[in-house]
Amino acid sequence: MDRDRDYLRRVQYRDATELAKRTKVHVAYRTASMSGFSLFGSLVPWSADDRVLDVGGGAGYLWEEIAGRLPDGVVLTTADQSAGMVAEAVPRASATGRFRSVSGGVCDAAALPFDDGAFDVVVSTYALYHLPEPGRAVAEMLRVVRPGGTIAIMTNGDGHMRQVEDARVAVFGPAGRYEINRTFTPAMATAALVDHADRVGWTRYDDELHVTCVDDAVAFMTSSPPGTEATAAQIDELRSIVRSAMDRDGEIFRVDKHTGCVIATGCRRR
Ligand SMILES: C[S@@+](CC[C@H](N)C(=O)[O-])C[C@H]1O[C@@H](n2cnc3c(N)ncnc32)[C@H](O)[C@@H]1O
Repeated sequence: MDRDRDYLRRVQYRDATELAKRTKVHVAYRTASMSGFSLFGSLVPWSADDRVLDVGGGAGYLWEEIAGRLPDGVVLTTADQSAGMVAEAVPRASATGRFRSVSGGVCDAAALPFDDGAFDVVVSTYALYHLPEPGRAVAEMLRVVRPGGTIAIMTNGDGHMRQVEDARVAVFGPAGRYEINRTFTPAMATAALVDHADRVGWTRYDDELHVTCVDDAVAFMTSSPPGTEATAAQIDELRSIVRSAMDRDGEIFRVDKHTGCVIATGCRRR
């Protein structure tokens, strides 16, 4: 389901309802001093008047968080296959008052409707692992970035949200696994870009979530399939797994993260 384009567009990401449940947990319970988006924003070499494309931009949370660190004059295009997401992202980014302009495009990351070399910076956070062939989206990002421009990707690796995944597998079986944590890892993103840029580097985002509310943890676990169809009994099982972990660990449900930023500068078209 996590790589089924129609399901993702029509159900999971029809709007930001389910994504917001997961985002809330990442924001409220992080132990790192800086958010992942802030780290990402600090690593991209922005310039004034950059033309920026966000591929699979979702509801625009990235821009709300990092707008304050951007130079003047940035022209933002946020692209997503979900019209509902684009409809949320454009006003959210515009409301920061930091952009020269913000526009949205409803499209598939594997077939971007933009001219070759149209952007100075092309970014994508937590989106490309949803594609059956992430390499096609990377190829498109390389096509639409100008020669010498920057591509910046944030993605997850194996072991991300391990304790959440373990609880889901205990209740739902193998379908509870987060396969997307293995389909487009930071190492894979680096490998896809390394022959097409002057420099590619990846930076791990070090964080561990300390979740202190059972309901928030369970909302995360049931915000994507098969959790979205969980029975009352399965929800009770999830709750008791979280509750037991918190009882053992001083009222904290600890969750590992494995996520990283891949920054490619001096990009060359294929
Ligand atoms: C986990 S959300 C991340 C959203 C946003 N980038 C963020 O970090 O908050 C994944 C996003 O990728 C979009 N997406 C998934 N497959 C896509 C595709 N083939 N083309 C374009 N967007 C896609 C979804 O609609 C969703 O908005």
